[in-house]
Amino acid sequence: MGQSFWEQLHLALTLLLLNVGSAVNGDVTHGCYGVPGLPGMPGVPGKDGRDGLKGAKGEPGIPATPATRGPKGMKGEPGSPGLPGKTGPRGLPGPSGDPGMMGMTGEPGMPGSYKQKHQSAFSVTRQTGEHPLKNVPVVFNHVITNTNHDYNTTTGKFTCHIPGLYYFVFHTSQTANLCVILYKNGSKMASFCDHKTNTMQVSSGGIVLHVGAGNEVWLAVNDYNGMVGIGSSDSIFSGFLLFPD
Ligand SMILES: *[C@@H]1O[C@H](CO)[C@@H](O)[C@H](O)[C@H]1NC(C)=O
Ligand SMILES: *[C@@H]1O[C@H](CO)[C@@H](O)[C@H](O)[C@H]1NC(C)=O
Repeated sequence: MGQSFWEQLHLALTLLLLNVGSAVNGDVTHGCYGVPGLPGMPGVPGKDGRDGLKGAKGEPGIPATPATRGPKGMKGEPGSPGLPGKTGPRGLPGPSGDPGMMGMTGEPGMPGSYKQKHQSAFSVTRQTGEHPLKNVPVVFNHVITNTNHDYNTTTGKFTCHIPGLYYFVFHTSQTANLCVILYKNGSKMASFCDHKTNTMQVSSGGIVLHVGAGNEVWLAVNDYNGMVGIGSSDSIFSGFLLFPD
């Protein structure tokens, strides 16, 4: 490679100094030349030079083959929503809900069998030769039939427990004039009077009545009170339920 730039520069400077020295010394002293000094230390590097001129345009590159893939692009913006899809298949039925509130009480049902619940019937006789007191219930003191004790042999009154249509009937033996009056709760419902024309005669009367629960039905006599019940001459009072309400 040869001598470096710095070595060449050092040599050139040394020779220049020698020439200057000889010129000065030759004029003044004409003395002898001294021993040349030692080379100085290398100076610091200079600044970078200016940029060079722009180079010529290079040859065009090799065209990319279609198969060559470029670098992956940036993520794009989201697209607009698509049209709604078709209705899906029907799902399975859900579980049963809680039981609802209790409903209103229904209408009463049809009447059931009369056998047990709707029985009311009595037949009672009066067994005494004495005539009954007037304007009070005639007491029939002997029971032939008396369901549920509806007829009271102490008071002489029938008390209704099953409201409905009842049939009441009496057959009396009489030894004097007799009027029989049928009362319902203190109201006259029917009156049957017979004047005695024979030694012993029978009179009777019957009535269909609607009787409400708690109502009382009884027979009474007035001044004509010749009712008896003796031996083979009975006086009998009967009543029974025809149709309950
Ligand atoms: C009949 O009536 C009397 C007097 O009200 C009463 O003391 C008695 O308990 C009644 N008898 C029946 C079987 O209801
Ligand atoms: C019938 O008389 C009874 C006894 O006095 C009474 O409890 C009832 O309320 C009366 N009923 C009517 C419809 O007057």
